Amino acid sequence: MTVKSCQQLIKNWQKEVWTKKKGGGMTRLRELYRCEICGNVVEITHEGAPSLVCCGEPMKKLVAKTQDEGKEKHVPVVEGIDAGTKVTVGSIAHPMEEKHYIKFIEVLSAGRVIRVELKPGQSPSAEVCLLKSEIQEVREFCTVHGLWKA
Ligand SMILES: [Fe+2]
Repeated sequence: MTVKSCQQLIKNWQKEVWTKKKGGGMTRLRELYRCEICGNVVEITHEGAPSLVCCGEPMKKLVAKTQDEGKEKHVPVVEGIDAGTKVTVGSIAHPMEEKHYIKFIEVLSAGRVIRVELKPGQSPSAEVCLLKSEIQEVREFCTVHGLWKA
């Protein structure tokens, strides 16, 4: 065994211990994870490894908030329209400024995840061709305040 492969074994073992200590388990379909160092956000499209690593550190699972607090509103407002469903963030339109905006809105139904990517200056809303009754969850990601769902 070379020194390099021995070091890799130790590193893998440390990662395994860290994951167990932190109560880590299998990832779940549609979960979102964020790197607290570089800000990467990833979504699980195939369940697997017990932990995700970015910038050399385990990524943190994002837990969506459901209750608005403060003057900015984040909880998505979901309404049925002729063509499907409209989602607006939030009850008072969320800012769409250069450093603080809604990065994406996701609409989840059985077997489908529809993600609408947004940019500063756009409206914090999305329309999808899905009946409101088909929707299981709607969530959005704010670049400053994180993940929210309705
Ligand atoms: Fe925000």
